[in-house]
Amino acid sequence: MTIRDYFKKAQKEKWAIGQFNISNLETLRAIIKAAQNLKSPVIIGTSEGESKFIGSKEAVALVGSFRKEYKLPVFLNLDHGKDFDYIKEVIDSGYDAVHFDGSKLSLKENIEMTKKVVEYGHKKKVFVEGEVGFITGASEILKEIPEIREEDLTSPEEALEFIKETKIDSLAINVGTFHGMGVSGKDPNINLKRLKDIKDKVGEKVFLVLHGGSGTQEKDIKEAIELGIVKININTELRAAFTNALGESMKDKPEEITPYKYLPEAIEAVQKIVEDKIKLFGSINKI
Ligand code: G3H
Ligand code: ZN
Repeated sequence: MTIRDYFKKAQKEKWAIGQFNISNLETLRAIIKAAQNLKSPVIIGTSEGESKFIGSKEAVALVGSFRKEYKLPVFLNLDHGKDFDYIKEVIDSGYDAVHFDGSKLSLKENIEMTKKVVEYGHKKKVFVEGEVGFITGASEILKEIPEIREEDLTSPEEALEFIKETKIDSLAINVGTFHGMGVSGKDPNINLKRLKDIKDKVGEKVFLVLHGGSGTQEKDIKEAIELGIVKININTELRAAFTNALGESMKDKPEEITPYKYLPEAIEAVQKIVEDKIKLFGSINKI
């Protein structure tokens, strides 16, 4: 089954595929272990920065190797691509999907650029995600919860115009989530009414994507899936789990210098988060 087949299945059966971001092999291995344990499809995300750190060809080779070795539906997506040349580069490297983030552009410019990405991507059978509405924050632990401005939320009318014009496959929307999470680990409620309005407007024409999934309350995630979200992006919670567990591990074993002896705790911590998300998103046993 292709990535599109999994989106269709998720939409029909009302569950969501997790996109989990990585910047190293250990995090990727943790996600693969979780997906394998729970028989779940997964999408591996790399931002432009994460992709450049690993190397786009190396990311494709690593994901491809796990896909083959474990016979798992694991797909690779460029997350928040903004630079058209880099988007072309990852498509040529063999990414399965790309997300073009034109959310800082005017709607007209966003449509024009997204069309270019769709044209290039679809020629190479690459799945394309667009974005309407601006999702604030950064994938970090935030000292203050950012203000969600009404004008940054996705307008249902603009979303419909955007998908009709661009022919994108999936759409990232802003319904009150933000990148990163507060220190409490529990973000404020999202705007489910806006999500419903968007879904009523766009129907089944596009697959809806929720960004900023870290810290989002479980109740909101469940309702968002019920209302039509079919992909949920998680990054901050994985970064925090990896880094905190690594810190603890180094503290416990201050003399240890062998990476494969101090990294397993960090892998386990990430795996646990991914397993919890897979259960929450309902993608367990969907292979
Ligand atoms: O595109 C990536 C996601 O939206 C990650 O958001 O760091 O809040 O989980 P997060
Ligand atoms: Zn995002």
